[in-house]
Amino acid sequence: MHDDRLIVALDVHAMEDVESLVETLGDSVTHYKVGMELFYSVGASVVSYLKEKGKQVFLDLKLHDIPNTVAGGLCSLMGLGADILNIHASGGYTMMKKSAEALRAAAEKQGIACPKLIAVTVLTSINAEEWAEMGHTGDIGEQVIRLAELAKKAGLDGVVASPQEAAAIRKACGEDFLIVTPGIRPAGSSLDDQSRISTPSAALRNGATHLVVGRPVRSAEDPRAAAEKIVKEMGEA
Ligand code: C5P
Repeated sequence: MHDDRLIVALDVHAMEDVESLVETLGDSVTHYKVGMELFYSVGASVVSYLKEKGKQVFLDLKLHDIPNTVAGGLCSLMGLGADILNIHASGGYTMMKKSAEALRAAAEKQGIACPKLIAVTVLTSINAEEWAEMGHTGDIGEQVIRLAELAKKAGLDGVVASPQEAAAIRKACGEDFLIVTPGIRPAGSSLDDQSRISTPSAALRNGATHLVVGRPVRSAEDPRAAAEKIVKEMGEA
């Protein structure tokens, strides 16, 4: 039993840990998220390994630079075989648009499926105090929606967002827009360092299309049973 909307976060440093978790989870998980920590320590081999295992890869490297550099960087990452890539929406409309266009053109030229490109709006770690400290006067929630709308206008496929933002983004950006939400905690599990959390079913009801789950699966006594329990809850949502 699996659900393609579940993405398990591989927040580990070593290939042995990746291999052990992927083996343990078997066919209960089809999508994995590779972030900076893992990618910077083991490199492209982790993407090749996951692809060889028939998995989908969300390469969560959050690119943010001038348009030409981000567009080029994304095309290089596409060459590794990643299925979902992301950039910071705060890099601006031109950066997002040029990135989306460059990826589509490169995929077409190579005759491969274009990876999904999604944007990070405002990092969920930023609180109101830090927001003001950076010189912003408006509301964080309004900025999240503004950037999600801008990402859509620039031709991106969706955004990464907290589950609490999902409903407003869905309303603003329409049905055909990916909303990938971390901060998922099945009822009764540890919050760890997350604060703005949702259960899997609540996140889906609010419009999330994909759920990123790390520790509730990785740190469970029986990771496969934990993943299957989440998949079951997703199916019932
Ligand atoms: O272990 P846990 O389920 O909290 O992992 C969530 C994953 O999602 C981690 O890889 C974390 O870096 C990522 N993430 C997040 N909040 C964001 C963006 C990404 O928790 N706003």
